[in-house]
Amino acid sequence: MSKRAAVALVATAMAVALTACGSGGGSKDAAGGGGSGKLTVGFSQVGAESNWRTANTKSVQDAAKKAGVTLKFSDAQQKQENQIKAIRSFIQQKVDVIAFSPVVESGWDTVLKEAKDAKIPVVLTDRAVDSKDESLYATFLGSDFVEEGKKAGDWLVKEYQGKTDQVNIVELQGTTGSAPANDRKSGFGDVVKADPKFKVVASQTGDFTRAKGKEVMQAFLKSQPKIDVLYAHNDDMALGAIQAIEEAGKTPGKDIKIISVDGVKDAFTAMAAGKINVVVECNPLLGDQLMELVKKVKAGESVERRIKTVEGVFTQDQAAAALPSRQY
Ligand code: AHR
Repeated sequence: MSKRAAVALVATAMAVALTACGSGGGSKDAAGGGGSGKLTVGFSQVGAESNWRTANTKSVQDAAKKAGVTLKFSDAQQKQENQIKAIRSFIQQKVDVIAFSPVVESGWDTVLKEAKDAKIPVVLTDRAVDSKDESLYATFLGSDFVEEGKKAGDWLVKEYQGKTDQVNIVELQGTTGSAPANDRKSGFGDVVKADPKFKVVASQTGDFTRAKGKEVMQAFLKSQPKIDVLYAHNDDMALGAIQAIEEAGKTPGKDIKIISVDGVKDAFTAMAAGKINVVVECNPLLGDQLMELVKKVKAGESVERRIKTVEGVFTQDQAAAALPSRQY
């Protein structure tokens, strides 16, 4: 096997395998730890689909190290079946707590019941599940995605206040069936439906990735004679779409106004350059809060059922000033 192939094989194995990381130095006792006195958390991450996700993974891994928590990390590569396998593996390994960010909302009851039967508490982070049985997880830490969609809609309503012409909107949805895609769509839709001049003329998934965002935007540009606004459910798709718009000879931010969600550095750079009009923030830096929660949950302390992240909205006039202090 060539050296290059061997390196690729090791990299792939590392991405799929459950790896212990974030074990921190020393043998400091973490609250509620198992036999060694150290807490072990199994964390099933969605994937590495976006800059937001990369920042979220880093935040969780860094926080685990800082908190002296052994983190068993598994990358699901945007596939629910991989997450279910990872959770079952965590149960077999008898981790202290399972934390996960569910790729889609539905289909979790069976595996969550298995965790409950094994008496392993589950903490949801970033994304929610639609289980009716709330005893299947201890708490949910993350953004209010419906609110994010509403903020996007509110900006649009204000932007077109007093105008009467029809506003044609194309929408790049996140991963089909995921909480942020469902909620950002419904939150936005609820606001804009109040005014009939707003018309969503095309809406399709771009899977939260730059490549798919570009591809779908190219298709929109071909099929839609007039596009006034792009609403992208995340920055990566918006950034991909910007490439498509520029390649089509149009000016992003002017010919087509762009609303995006997340607030990663690349989006702020694009916004400072006038290519994105507004970014609704979604904070990925959940690691420290997550570590606090898993320790409390393991120790049997009471925690709030729902912990919402505090987030803002940024417009072009704020972008350049905010850019240097963006942490992700
Ligand atoms: O669940 C959060 C979303 O997932 C972020 O908005 C997106 O960028 C990510 O892939």
